[in-house]
Amino acid sequence: MINQKVETALNEQVNAEIYSSYLYLSMSSYFSSINLSGFAQWMKSQALEEMVHAMKIYDYINERGGRVLLTAIDAPPTSWDNPVVVFSETLAHEQKVTGLINNLVDIAIAEKDHATNIFLQWFVSEQVEEEASVDEVLQKLKMVGDQGHGLFMMDRELGARTPAALTASE
Ligand code: FEO
Repeated sequence: MINQKVETALNEQVNAEIYSSYLYLSMSSYFSSINLSGFAQWMKSQALEEMVHAMKIYDYINERGGRVLLTAIDAPPTSWDNPVVVFSETLAHEQKVTGLINNLVDIAIAEKDHATNIFLQWFVSEQVEEEASVDEVLQKLKMVGDQGHGLFMMDRELGARTPAALTASE
């Protein structure tokens, strides 16, 4: 059985992961609106992966005999000035999520909930990957600028992404 403090914190993280999905889907829609279909595909894949993160926690709470309580999801922004701004905000958002995950680990340790601590280690590693992959796109975008041949090439490259959740064997 999971204790109340851990259960509440995990429920808040379910909300945060669904908000992340909502945010990235909104970014995907923005990219579609400016005809960058590869960037849109990359963000749609990111949105799907965030829902998978939410479901992992959802399933874990249930597995531990807890109760998932779904709450309102904030509306995400709907427009941005340019692709560099989108990826700057994405990196800042992922850094915030990393902080939330680290805080969850702190709670699990303080509550001596070893199972939750182990469960969260996947998310700790995932955040390292997420920040790195977003930063890689951001740095490339800063190099090529917001238009021209470089942006077209990046759009083609990013369009090849499929959600890891749909190709992974787990
Ligand atoms: Fe679920 Fe992008 O962190």
